[in-house]
Amino acid sequence: MSSRSVVTIERHIIEAERQFPKATGAFSNILYDLALAAKMIAHEVRRAGLVDILGYTGDVNVQGEEVKKLDEYANEVIFKALDHTGHLCGMASEENEDFIPIPDKFPTGNYCVLFDPLDGSSNIDANVSVGTIFSVHRKISDHPRGCITDCLQRGTEQVAAGYIVYGSSTMLVYTTGNGVHGFTLDPSIGEFLLSHPYMRIPNPGQRTYSVNEGNYGKWCPEQRRLVDHLKGMDGANAKPFSARYIGSLVADFHRNLLYGGVFMYPADAKSPKGKLRLLYEAAPLAMIAEGAGGKASTGTQRILEVEPTSLHQRVPLYIGTAEYVDMAERFLAGAPIDAEAEVVAGV
Ligand code: AHG
Ligand code: MN
Ligand code: MN
Repeated sequence: MSSRSVVTIERHIIEAERQFPKATGAFSNILYDLALAAKMIAHEVRRAGLVDILGYTGDVNVQGEEVKKLDEYANEVIFKALDHTGHLCGMASEENEDFIPIPDKFPTGNYCVLFDPLDGSSNIDANVSVGTIFSVHRKISDHPRGCITDCLQRGTEQVAAGYIVYGSSTMLVYTTGNGVHGFTLDPSIGEFLLSHPYMRIPNPGQRTYSVNEGNYGKWCPEQRRLVDHLKGMDGANAKPFSARYIGSLVADFHRNLLYGGVFMYPADAKSPKGKLRLLYEAAPLAMIAEGAGGKASTGTQRILEVEPTSLHQRVPLYIGTAEYVDMAERFLAGAPIDAEAEVVAGV
């Protein structure tokens, strides 16, 4: 028999909870419930191509049920996994315009959960990896059953954050502030098993940048200069970067977390505040990035310190290996290339 013990996500969460003798278990239960929702979404993602056979989205299937789009399905699964437990005072989702209250028939609790139920959803029909992103905050409002204030908190206040990537295997990566841990779903037993304890972004890792370069013409000169530099086109970077862009934030981020690199979604002429959402995408991944020794920035400010003013607020995002995020900030601040060349040479 192997001497290695198998650590399920349940065991991992319980063992972490034991370090806090006053813990009620509510927080642990939220994480289990999210893991359960992830398994259900993973199952449906695996069947994605079959929709064409079993009935198109929007159709009524043979059981007389409406076939939902996967992002709507994922949204509903997460809501239903969490709405009745008594642990939450509300939720917010990329798919819902407003704060999502807990239905009156259920008790409320001391946490709220924010999520992007299906990230990269435009990729789904092409069999490309997609994901789910979540973050957990403590209730801070005086409202007895919670309100939007509980969701509009800075990333520094997150008590947990994580994502699931539905790729060649399904992986759940999360942090509660004590390391970043990755679990791989074993489909034969339906359990997430600890496969990547205490993940760290390699430093120096692969020199990879991920950006939608089709937007080059809409970028500011500083952003263009940065990408020209990464590619070695300015003559000041002896070790040009490779480009990797999937177009699913979770998948791009996950690759960079494992191998090193920087993901960028800058502000541009079409999206002057950036495209990605602070609360459902940038802040949770920023907590993971920092927990793994990396960084996340708007280009001028630490993502975790951005004050949210609305649920669907967008931010420019630079995230990944700390040195590369720092480099991006320097370029965006207009630093001279010569100074940069020395820094880069040392990476
Ligand atoms: P979502 O599917 O949740 O709307 O997110 C899509 C996001 C993100 O996953 C990805 O990084 C980005 O959109 C890609 O945008 P472009 O197609 O503009 O590159
Ligand atoms: Mn998304
Ligand atoms: Mn989405």
